[in-house]
Amino acid sequence: MFMEVQAPAKINLTLRVFGKRMDGYHTLESVVQTITLSDSLTFESAAEGLFFSCSDPVLEGEDNLVMRAARLLQTRSAMPRGARIHLEKRIPQQAGLGGGSSDAATALTALNELWDLHLPLDDLATLAADLGSDVPFFLRGPSAVIGGRGELVRPITHNTAAAVVLAKPATGLSTGEVYSRLQAMPQLPDEEIFMRSAAQVMLNALNAGDVSLIARAMVNDLERSAYIMLPDLTRLRERMRLQGCLGVQLCGSGSALVGICADVEVAKAAAAELLNDCPWTWAGPWTMAA
Ligand code: C5P
Repeated sequence: MFMEVQAPAKINLTLRVFGKRMDGYHTLESVVQTITLSDSLTFESAAEGLFFSCSDPVLEGEDNLVMRAARLLQTRSAMPRGARIHLEKRIPQQAGLGGGSSDAATALTALNELWDLHLPLDDLATLAADLGSDVPFFLRGPSAVIGGRGELVRPITHNTAAAVVLAKPATGLSTGEVYSRLQAMPQLPDEEIFMRSAAQVMLNALNAGDVSLIARAMVNDLERSAYIMLPDLTRLRERMRLQGCLGVQLCGSGSALVGICADVEVAKAAAAELLNDCPWTWAGPWTMAA
């Protein structure tokens, strides 16, 4: 059996961060949306053993979240299972776009099918949370509100189409470092106030189908530390605004910035122009529910 599956990138339309938990993670609430930028993965049954290749050889090896997902799933199988997996990478690393997490979620779902394991979604979600905070969301996209450290996923439906522009500076950012710098800063938002604000305002904007309202409802608490770590982001954000983006903010923990545009033509023109300012850009629609 042979399968080819797309693993989409995500953007965080809102991302509010509370205090640090006993386990070192932060409590958060975020409205997350997949976009049409994706990695592709192919899966092929093999009698035994896992064989993994990647278009970027640096990402090959046991450390890759795809391999870790496959190994984790192997432990849930009564008999030995094997697969040949290839990952065609298009989503940049250290960008805050969830590429590695999406690859891992895709591997869990695809291998569950390839190996006839029939694990229910809840079991896959438990494995996903072990692999990383962003992984559970990708089992339940295209749109959801996430909570806890990322493992609580409430899917949402909306019918609003929007185009996004992504621009990533040459330097990436480490998620752990961005969070740890945030911790050193005062004034994490009060949990109760924020529960009623950012995500709900965004959901209202999505339901209203108004892209300019969506742009205005965007917020990301990780921006504070990311902009200190990478001051170049300030200029890039301004450039994106000048190129017609209605709202611009950091993707997750960065270092990519996302701009929301009214239509794909504006987004594509902006992406072409922004290549003068940074080495990687992309433009396209976000994903609509099937
Ligand atoms: O879960 P993941 O391995 O993707 O997280 C990477 C790092 O980001 C964690 O080690 C932690 O420092 C930080 N993080 C956090 N709170 C979250 C998610 C991630 O502090 N909710």
